[in-house]
Amino acid sequence: MAQKRAEQIAAHLNYPKGLLSGQTAIITGSAQGIGAEAARLFANEGAKVVISDIDAEKSKATADSINKEGGQALAVPGDILSDEYIDDLVKKAAEFGGGKIHIIVNNAGFTWDGVIHKMTNKQWDTILSLHAGAPFKLVRAAAPYFRVKDGEPRNIVNISSTSGLNGNPGQANYSLAKAGVTGLTKTIAKEWGPQFGVRANTIGYGQIATRLTAAKEQGGHVTLGDGTKIALGIPQAQLDGRKDSAFQDIPLRRPGTATEAASAILAVVSPYMSYVTGQTIAVTGGRNM
Ligand SMILES: NC(=O)c1ccc[n+]([C@@H]2O[C@H](COP(=O)([O-])OP(=O)(O)OC[C@H]3O[C@@H](n4cnc5c(N)ncnc54)[C@H](O)[C@@H]3O)[C@@H](O)[C@H]2O)c1
Repeated sequence: MAQKRAEQIAAHLNYPKGLLSGQTAIITGSAQGIGAEAARLFANEGAKVVISDIDAEKSKATADSINKEGGQALAVPGDILSDEYIDDLVKKAAEFGGGKIHIIVNNAGFTWDGVIHKMTNKQWDTILSLHAGAPFKLVRAAAPYFRVKDGEPRNIVNISSTSGLNGNPGQANYSLAKAGVTGLTKTIAKEWGPQFGVRANTIGYGQIATRLTAAKEQGGHVTLGDGTKIALGIPQAQLDGRKDSAFQDIPLRRPGTATEAASAILAVVSPYMSYVTGQTIAVTGGRNM
């Protein structure tokens, strides 16, 4: 069994049509930012990618641009906080994948900060459901496509953050959820690795240049299902304050790009990492070593 799997992985390394040829991937939060870059990179490597995002317009635009460039993408927009949407997403992804799903990247999310003594239950519950509850529910719903023995690779990647790995003032909710997924990842690796060969890994980002870390004044926002509008980004004054330090705490002295962040996701699901599972990979430019 182990020998056979090693041979299958070796065969997969002769990737005539890309590192992920023949595989189908769900990437949540892939209408923009890191998720959209991951979708492009996956499609370039021959995967069919399902663009899952609450922003329907941007989901369609991202899928269209991948398809125009010769890739295979399907937009399935919706709110990952909805149980019905999760079921629908899995169903449509499996149809698109000819009955198979090989990769899930749990990436969707935003921050809704507040210091501990001022954080509301709604802030707390929303961020925990989004960054920890939804990844669990999606993996559970997709279980029939991962608990299989067809000899093909299966990967789950949960996206975390240095806030989860080290804590961050104003982010008790986000820190707990992002710390939590590291345990979820290891549990998946231990439950589904032995019989089914499923690999599960966490990627924890430091500062990546997306709208999540852009100036708040640029107006980026998300709207919850009940209409609550949440502003995204970091206040300009706080960003100006950081200029003096010029990323002194990052050995590479700069934020990462969305493409660099997404490249780490491609790397970990690729056959080059076929013996890596249950790990938390910090993609931080060396911050917090
Ligand atoms: N940018 C960073 O510096 C950074 C650092 C650490 C971790 N992260 C994590 O990386 C992931 C991607 O973030 P990004 O920087 O690309 O941000 P982004 O805002 O560019 O992209 C996030 C995407 O998630 C989608 N989304 C949000 N809520 C959703 C919901 N309820 N249902 C479905 N889709 C939803 C958004 O519409 C958006 O397209 C997030 O989990 C984030 O917490 C980012």
